[in-house]
Amino acid sequence: MVYFKMTHIFHLAIVLLISCSFVNVFGSKQSLVAPTKIGDGYRLVSLQESSDGGLLGLLKVNQKNNIYGPDIPHLQLYIKHETDDRLRIHITDAQQQRWEVPYDLLPRDKPPQQRPSKQTTIPINAAAFSSGELIFSYITDPFSFAVKRTSTGQTLFNSSTPYNSLVFKDQYIEISTSLPHDASLYGLGENSQPHGIKLYPNDPYTLWTTDQSAINLNMDLYGSHPVYMDLRNGHAHGVLLLNSNGMDIIYRGDSLTYKVIGGVLDFYVFAGPTPLGVVDQYTQLIGRPAPMPYWSLGFHQCRWGYHNLSVVEDVVENYNKAQIPLDVIWNDDDHMDGHKDFTLNPVAYPRPKLLDFLQRIHDRGMKYIVIIDPGIGVNSTYGTYQRGIAKDVFIKYNGKPYLAQVWPGAVNFPDFMNPATVSWWVDEVRRFHELVPVDGLWIDMNEASNFCSGLCTIPEGRICPNGTGPGWVCCLDCKNITNTKWDDPPYKINASGTHVPIWYKTIATSAVHYNGVREYDAHSMYGFSHAIATHKALEGLNGKRPFILSRSTFVGSGKYTAHWTGDNQGTWNDIKYSIYTMLNFGLFGVPMVGSDICGFYPQPTEELCNRWIELGAFYPFSRDHANYYSPRQELYQWETVATSARNALGMRYKLLPYLYTLTYEAHTTGAPIARPLFFSFPNIPQLYGLSTQFLLGESLMVSPVLDQGRTNVSAVFPPGTWYSLFDQSQVINSKDLKPITLDAPLHVINVHLYQNTILPMQRGGMISKDARMTPFTLIVTFPVGSTDSNAKGKLYLDNDELPEMRLGNGQSSYIDFSASASKKTVKVWSDVQESKYALDKGWYIEKITVLGSSGIGGSFAVEVEGESDILDVSKVEVVQTEHKFFDEIMKDSDVK
Ligand code: GLC
Repeated sequence: MVYFKMTHIFHLAIVLLISCSFVNVFGSKQSLVAPTKIGDGYRLVSLQESSDGGLLGLLKVNQKNNIYGPDIPHLQLYIKHETDDRLRIHITDAQQQRWEVPYDLLPRDKPPQQRPSKQTTIPINAAAFSSGELIFSYITDPFSFAVKRTSTGQTLFNSSTPYNSLVFKDQYIEISTSLPHDASLYGLGENSQPHGIKLYPNDPYTLWTTDQSAINLNMDLYGSHPVYMDLRNGHAHGVLLLNSNGMDIIYRGDSLTYKVIGGVLDFYVFAGPTPLGVVDQYTQLIGRPAPMPYWSLGFHQCRWGYHNLSVVEDVVENYNKAQIPLDVIWNDDDHMDGHKDFTLNPVAYPRPKLLDFLQRIHDRGMKYIVIIDPGIGVNSTYGTYQRGIAKDVFIKYNGKPYLAQVWPGAVNFPDFMNPATVSWWVDEVRRFHELVPVDGLWIDMNEASNFCSGLCTIPEGRICPNGTGPGWVCCLDCKNITNTKWDDPPYKINASGTHVPIWYKTIATSAVHYNGVREYDAHSMYGFSHAIATHKALEGLNGKRPFILSRSTFVGSGKYTAHWTGDNQGTWNDIKYSIYTMLNFGLFGVPMVGSDICGFYPQPTEELCNRWIELGAFYPFSRDHANYYSPRQELYQWETVATSARNALGMRYKLLPYLYTLTYEAHTTGAPIARPLFFSFPNIPQLYGLSTQFLLGESLMVSPVLDQGRTNVSAVFPPGTWYSLFDQSQVINSKDLKPITLDAPLHVINVHLYQNTILPMQRGGMISKDARMTPFTLIVTFPVGSTDSNAKGKLYLDNDELPEMRLGNGQSSYIDFSASASKKTVKVWSDVQESKYALDKGWYIEKITVLGSSGIGGSFAVEVEGESDILDVSKVEVVQTEHKFFDEIMKDSDVK
């Protein structure tokens, strides 16, 4: 750690510079986001070294005002270089403890239990504190801070802006950062962004978990992730504000303002400098993405409205007949008795028949998942409810379980922050698993969603809901609650895009959790705590790796759950939004993500469903799901869709070993499975906004058709050689970023593999269990015409039933493949860690296809090095394919 001096003149210069650009830049849009002047900020009155080697400071408010409540007079500032590339800046009330994201739910270091002294022990003008790649510096009065990158001097965060300097009240905290004009920002969700993956100036970003259909653009949707990545000229960094309270974040292009209604300021800056570095550093803090079972990468079929078991049996059979791969069949709440969790409808889903069905599908290697909502039906004859009441597991209002309404009618919500609730939930899942041996759980409505608002009672004699249809109209008697500071805070976030009260269609924000925690503070963590409890329950069942799909997520959810993007529409817009949200969740540390393929509602057109399965086959999580009232949309329902599905899912099932290796990479380094192109090409700014194509891993690029009536697609190819995965003889040698129009008739999705890659594939199949045991092919790619080049690839194999995903347990192997091409020889070799597992399983490589060495079409010798390992030379057939350059392909086709 080094201290060095900076002059106040320098800081003044920055302030002036920013002020000038502020005047120049905004023009008319400024009025949309005009700042309210709130006070004169704080001044730093003391600074000392903290007991853990950080800095501890005391801030004193300059001039008090009462807008949004009185200022907190003294603040504690704590700064710590937690690692070489992670800096934490924590600001809270110096005199009273405040709510912050609980340290047991999201484990991390606690600021030291030390009070800042009133005496300055470090000269206040020694204004910088540096370690590793980040430098912290500050201005004393009004207090502001900046974070710079050591290696380039670039300012990454600077709270000295023309807007309010630090505002800190009980229920209103405001801070801004200035941004240079070359900053591209990503993240801040969950939000359906109409403008693509890059944050768009003056679009509102409100974070408050809400059951808001994903078709609502720019609104606070199901999850809350106050984190962004900033990419400038090839350098990326990340900023997390770890805070669970409701907030509006205003992005103006050259600044970002946080307006938060509680908690503390707990900033973490991640230095990157690569996009992969940022997610690595981020997930190191918040928890690495959960290991995924192999089968979860297979195709999933779901719908709301499989009215009885025979329908489900038919669906499985029809997939089989249509020869479309299917790994997992799902039930929405149709299997339940009166929509009650952990029950079976004895008529529509009689247990003996269901068990028989499960035996049959399990024997084939298929899996079964059902939905579980958090709302527990208030019903004195319902065991789960009775046991819950007995163990006092529910969120309270005025000392009684808070009453709400969801699908079963009147419900209480379990308080997953209460250890007693977690034990009860674990036990309920265990009981249910004895009743029905499910393979995973789908946790939904956990924002939490409530069909009523406020303080409700069950009207005497009313049956609620009345039993017709899914019943999402509130039938309790409810009153608005506006008499507490938690239900009626002074600053209204832009909830649901219309400033509705924050308790609208959710739990009353003055309701109380374990230890007196208010819903007001913990609201956006409900789905997160639900996922943690469910994970614990599944893990404890039979020691198998859990699979959970959750609708609501928070910082750290990826450690426990996969996510789907909620209730989308079967429209051409929504197919596009699905890419943006999927790529965002990769940044949020929840890489196992997908959207309802073909749309949740209304009915998609046949053409759209074709295009959607072609895209959805390359989502990390690939599931067709539809609404209760939608017509059936399983992939075999239209012959054309079935053909597209066989094609695209056929390829997915060949790629499963690659996708599974990506889940391992995600689990060990946080790397997203699906990534924006800038992850592999961070130095090409023209790619920063590209939102219609994406990468799986480093070098497999998906370029889907996203518009009605198109039979071609205009795609960008970063410079280098790209091989079509479906027809490896087709090659694109790209020199610039001019979009190329590719042929894409109805059944075709374009997927290309970049040069210098070794892609492990298998033969595919109808079910991942069988596909997994087939021999491997390696596709080795070199740049066209190169006489001196290398390629690399990797493969992770393990027993996917084990909860952990790691090397060193005797049940996993890891292989680094390498290849080099020089003049007329290509060498391929492997470096295997812990080969025993792979060899015992009998895996081997049957074929190596070499693309692009020594000039297209030229002949060359391939030497394979490896004996008695997975690259056993005696088993490998080497294939060198003929190629057609893109120009020739264009001549042969009608694409212009
Ligand atoms: C919610 C879910 C949806 C599900 C429905 C019924 O709307 O988002 O996927 O089908 O509830 O359970």
